Amino acid sequence: MKAFVLRSYGSPDALDLTEIGKPVPGDDEVLVRVRATSVQPYDWHHMRGEPYIARLMGGGPGLRKPKINILGADMAGQVEAVGKDVTEFRPGDEVFAMLKQGGFAEYVCVRAGELAPKPKNLSFEEAAAVPMAANTALLGLRDMGRIQPGQRILVNGASGGVGTFAVQIAKAFGAEVTGVCSTRNVDLVRSIGADKVIDYTAEDFTRNGERYDLLLDNAGSHSGKAYRRVLTPKGTYVGVGGRSGRWIRPVGRMFSTLAMSPLVSQRMVMANVVQCTENKKNLMTLAEFIEDGKITPVIDRRYPFEEIPAAIRYMEEGHAPGKVVIEV
Ligand SMILES: NC(=O)c1ccc[n+]([C@@H]2O[C@H](COP(=O)([O-])OP(=O)(O)OC[C@H]3O[C@@H](n4cnc5c(N)ncnc54)[C@H](OP(=O)(O)O)[C@@H]3O)[C@@H](O)[C@H]2O)c1
Repeated sequence: MKAFVLRSYGSPDALDLTEIGKPVPGDDEVLVRVRATSVQPYDWHHMRGEPYIARLMGGGPGLRKPKINILGADMAGQVEAVGKDVTEFRPGDEVFAMLKQGGFAEYVCVRAGELAPKPKNLSFEEAAAVPMAANTALLGLRDMGRIQPGQRILVNGASGGVGTFAVQIAKAFGAEVTGVCSTRNVDLVRSIGADKVIDYTAEDFTRNGERYDLLLDNAGSHSGKAYRRVLTPKGTYVGVGGRSGRWIRPVGRMFSTLAMSPLVSQRMVMANVVQCTENKKNLMTLAEFIEDGKITPVIDRRYPFEEIPAAIRYMEEGHAPGKVVIEV
C-alpha cells in the first residue's frame, strides 16, 4: 500500500511517499481502507518535533526522532477485514475514527473500541474532517468547560478546525456564543451560528468590558491575566492551543495560565484530546448532532493523497477557515 512515512523530523518534505506492506489486523482490530483523512496542527507538531519542550513530555513526539512514523489522526473509510474477536463491524461498513497515527496511508488497523459508524449524511471527506477537531471542541466545552444552556461562551480562534466545531457545538448546547477571528472569516463564523463575532484585528475582546461564563481558547493570543478579565467571577477558561513557537510556545503559556487556577476564583483548565479515553463515545455523540443537522463540518480545501505535504504546508500557516481534508 502507499503511505507517507516520516523517518526524521523536518519540513513537509520529510514525508516520504512510499510503498509498504498492508497492515494485518490483530484479534480486536479492524483493517480499514482509508478513503479520506485530514490535516491539523497535531500532524506538523509531530512532523517537526516542535515545540522542542513537547519532546520531553509523555505522549509527545520522541526526543531525537519521531515516535510516529505514519502521521494522520483523522480517518474515514470502509472496513476491509476484521480480527477474530470483532463482532461490531463487518467488511463494507463505513466508519470513522480519531487515531493517534496512521491516517496518511491507504490502509490502517484500528481497535474496534476506537472506531465509530460514519455519520450517514456525510461523505468520506466530510466525515474525515470531524474526529480530532470536533472531539476537542466537545471535550473542551462539555467535559472541561461544563457548558450549560443560556451561558455566555467565547470561542477564541472560532474560524479554524476546532473553532468551527466549537461554535456549532456550543449553540447545540443552547449557549450564547461569541466567536473571535480575523476580518476575512467574520461572515463564516456568523454563518455557522455565532450570535456575535469579534474581529481581533479591530477589537481586543479582553478590553471591551464584556464577561463570559466560559472561554474556549484555540488561539493563545493573550496572557492568563487578560483572560481572567473577561471571565465572570466563577467562569471557566479552557486552554486548547495557540500559535506555536520552536522552543516552548504554546506549552509554556498554557501552563502559566493553568498555574493560576488554585489562586483565583475562576477555573483555569486544559483540554487534551489525545489523552481522552472516551473518543469513540464522543464521536457517536457528534454523529448524532451531525445527523440531526446541528453540526456541519466546514471544509476549506480538499487535496489529493499525493499532495499531503502541500496540505500540511498550507495548514501550518494557521489561517485555514475550517478543515483541510485529503481524498485518499
Ligand atoms: N489540546 C488539544 O487536545 C488540542 C486538539 C486539537 C488542536 N489543538 C490545538 O488547538 C489549536 C487550534 O487548532 P485548530 O485545528 O483549530 O487550528 P487551525 O485550524 O489552524 O485554527 C487556528 C485558528 O486560530 C485563529 N487565530 C489565529 N490568530 C488568532 C488570534 N490572534 N486571535 C484569535 N484567533 C486567532 C485563526 O483564525 P484567522 O484565520 O481568522 O486568524 C485560525 O482559524 C492549535 O494550537 C492546535 O495545536 C489542541
